[in-house]
Amino acid sequence: MKICVTGGAGFIGSNFVYYVLNHHADDEVVCLDALTYAGNLSTLQEALKNPKFRFVKGDITDRKGVFDLFEKEKFDIVVNFAAESHVDRSIENPALFLNTNVMGVQNLLDASRAYGVKRYHQVSTDEVYGDLPLDRPDLLFEETNPIRTSSPYSASKAAADLLTLAYHRTYGMNVTLSRCSNNYGPYHFPEKLIPLVITRALANKSVPVYGEGLNVRDWLFVEDHCSAIDLIIRQAKSGEVYNIGGNNERTNIEIVKTVLKLLGKPESLIEHVTDRKGHDLRYAINASKIKRDLGWVPNTTFEQGIKATVDWYLTHENWWQEIISGEYVNYFNKMYGALNK
Ligand code: NAD
Ligand code: DAU
Repeated sequence: MKICVTGGAGFIGSNFVYYVLNHHADDEVVCLDALTYAGNLSTLQEALKNPKFRFVKGDITDRKGVFDLFEKEKFDIVVNFAAESHVDRSIENPALFLNTNVMGVQNLLDASRAYGVKRYHQVSTDEVYGDLPLDRPDLLFEETNPIRTSSPYSASKAAADLLTLAYHRTYGMNVTLSRCSNNYGPYHFPEKLIPLVITRALANKSVPVYGEGLNVRDWLFVEDHCSAIDLIIRQAKSGEVYNIGGNNERTNIEIVKTVLKLLGKPESLIEHVTDRKGHDLRYAINASKIKRDLGWVPNTTFEQGIKATVDWYLTHENWWQEIISGEYVNYFNKMYGALNK
């Protein structure tokens, strides 16, 4: 099997590259990634030593580049992780999100159709369902829920979902789609909550919590997300949509306090800052369909996963120091203003 992993130099895509190389020794993996601020070739250092792996620097919005690559490589499977992925950045610059997350996906779908890709998988997010109220723990996101997006990011991801399903219905393309909750684990870019807390607390700097920190997310260890996608691309029927989640709801403040405790840092580092615009209240996934159809359940408890994640950041300081000392400094200063304690 020859698999194209787009966005494979980012957080989840790189974990997926390693997952496939470790579990399917006969598969060939080609990573197509533009190496935006979120992509990092050093993340793929070990993969690059494997003869079954190749890296191609390219942008999914470059239609000719994508078509040339697909014509040459004749991929069996395409798994699209490439996206602008940070909600706060989408609030600042929606156009970039529409270009990458929608037009880029159109290019991948068209090229997959033109060059006989047997399965196109679109990696989506639970954010396409909008949010759930904090006082209704009985409500969960179901695959049949309507699309009800809040941010330019989630709207762009929802557009890509609809386009993917339209190519299935209209052209009979073989596609699958997965909508996952919040991931955490190795190689997570330090703009996102968990690595932000770890890297700032290690430097004894304040940790920004939006509002009261009572918003709820359903956290899943990244390797469990990878195992779910791997099953879907190999075993799921075309046209199916699967929710993926950890059944692990936590408030943001609970997450922050857990990480500080693991690091042995004081809660006085917490600084409540202005809330995110349009901030989704609660995400919670019902993942019973993927369990029933494909037998997938998460393998890692939150206690195991968060400890492994903190340990990974402690032992991979070079990886994140390089990131937080570059262009990211400007982003942080712009987003969080005076928060530089
Ligand atoms: P990320 O921001 O860490 O990585 C994105 C990768 O895509 C980077 O390597 C970047 O260089 C690449 N990329 C961006 N624009 C590109 C372009 N135009 N052409 C080629 N490559 C491009 O993102 P992530 O957190 O790993 O998320 C991966 C996917 O999973 C995204 O589609 C995201 O919507 C989805 N998702 C993420 C989460 C999460 O918790 N992080 C949860 C559910 C779904
Ligand atoms: O649910 C899946 C989504 O999870 C993915 O589709 C997105 O790509 C991914 O970035 C993530 O989105 P969130 O907005 O939930 O993740 P983030 O880490 O940005 O924020 C998690 C929660 O923490 C959210 O409620 C906002 C809050 N937060 C975030 C930051 C960056 C803070 O309180 N302070 C912060 O500084």
